[in-house]
Amino acid sequence: PNAQIGVYGLGTMGSALALNMAEHGFDVAVTNREVEWIGPFVEDAGVLGARIHPHDTLENFVQGLVTPRVILFMIPSGAPMDAMIEAVTPLLAPGDTIIDGGNANFHDTRRRAATLNEHDIHFVGMGVSGGEKGARFGPSMMVGGSAHSWQQLRPILREIAARFEGDPCVDHLGPDGAGHFVKTVHNGIEYADMQMIAEVYGLMRHGKALAPAEIGKIFEQWNEGALRSYLVEITGKALQYDDPETGHPMVDVIKDAAGQKGTGRWTVVEAVRMGQAANTIEAAVGARSWSSEKATRQAAEEILGGTCLALDLSRETLADAFLAARILAYAQGFRILDAAAQEYDWPLDFSRIAEIWRAGCIIRSALLDDISEAFQGELPAGQLILAPRFAQLLASSIPALREVVSGAVKGGHAVPALSAALAWYDTMRQGHGTANIIQAQRDFFGYHGFERLGQEGKHHGPWWD
Ligand code: 6PG
Repeated sequence: PNAQIGVYGLGTMGSALALNMAEHGFDVAVTNREVEWIGPFVEDAGVLGARIHPHDTLENFVQGLVTPRVILFMIPSGAPMDAMIEAVTPLLAPGDTIIDGGNANFHDTRRRAATLNEHDIHFVGMGVSGGEKGARFGPSMMVGGSAHSWQQLRPILREIAARFEGDPCVDHLGPDGAGHFVKTVHNGIEYADMQMIAEVYGLMRHGKALAPAEIGKIFEQWNEGALRSYLVEITGKALQYDDPETGHPMVDVIKDAAGQKGTGRWTVVEAVRMGQAANTIEAAVGARSWSSEKATRQAAEEILGGTCLALDLSRETLADAFLAARILAYAQGFRILDAAAQEYDWPLDFSRIAEIWRAGCIIRSALLDDISEAFQGELPAGQLILAPRFAQLLASSIPALREVVSGAVKGGHAVPALSAALAWYDTMRQGHGTANIIQAQRDFFGYHGFERLGQEGKHHGPWWD
């Protein structure tokens, strides 16, 4: 045996990670369910092929690894992962580590870790972000598992990770499901950011009658400033492409129905389950669902009318509004992480999480450096939006968000994520809200009782006297 790590699954992400490891000098054993993929993969690897050791059976693959073994599975999450665990476990020895590098549901990861723990086999749930390019040239990786596994993985992962000013974008975030949970929330924030970009695009396209390429140029400019981020960058680029077939702007021939594989939805489900409401992320997940009802929306446009009015919003106002909403969306993501840290007793280091998102991952943005710093400084009530830097940024950008949301609402433009962000902001800045009315109603119809201001205990209203 001579391979330091095994990669099972030579799909897009698995192959890219295996090549990345080989390039960094690691000997990598590889195999794949469809054995006919293995030969071509090694051939295409060129000089890197020298460090890639192909095997056509699971037994040989496992025997080709130095012990204690480390095996990274890059296969579809769900049932295939359970089947693989069942197949590989009898071939492993105590102290070996299996890693699931897919977008798995963290509940599954916790269950698998607990089951394998009985055999003294370590199960790591690792979130990998950055798509194929990231995997090949430097992803951001969120690791959940035992300290023993981290010892094994650390030297490899720190080499292959993306770097932000030299700092590798990978860390051990907690036990069992912590890494997959953090990746799930990363994707929730990703959904929110993507949706907000789409809304801002919509306002420029339909409210200001700008052409896609012009909007692309604006995103390109924004990417030079406070809004700098991978998603703004690629949107700016995508908007400037034309369709080779028709010559139309490429975005105009793409069907406006968004897919989703589940991570955004899990973020919302878990938030709600823990008594949180990440409404900006929820709005983004919901907007994707509505988008998929293309036929219904076409029918509704006939009956209800699809007119949207022109908008008088400057680019600067749109940029500031997006910045405010983006801060609020990130803040909601970190609140879910905080809730999970408490619920599962995970030692999540929010500053470090922001740090490992600064490069390699899909939500990398200029803001994350500020977020990571904010978590190291004064954080009133534990809230990111109350950190001096963010309170100040919000104070200067919220007026723009108000102008954009109110303009959009008056003009009939749908801005579910931007308006959700603003609604959350306006709710949170009221020390005295309106839930007294909810409590009065609950007591009125159901004798549920309420607390009085400044008094302990349960009280009832005079409507019961
Ligand atoms: C990443 C991405 C990646 C993928 C997700 C989301 O961080 O590299 O989040 O994991 O794009 O599967 O995909 P959906 O939009 O299909 O849910």
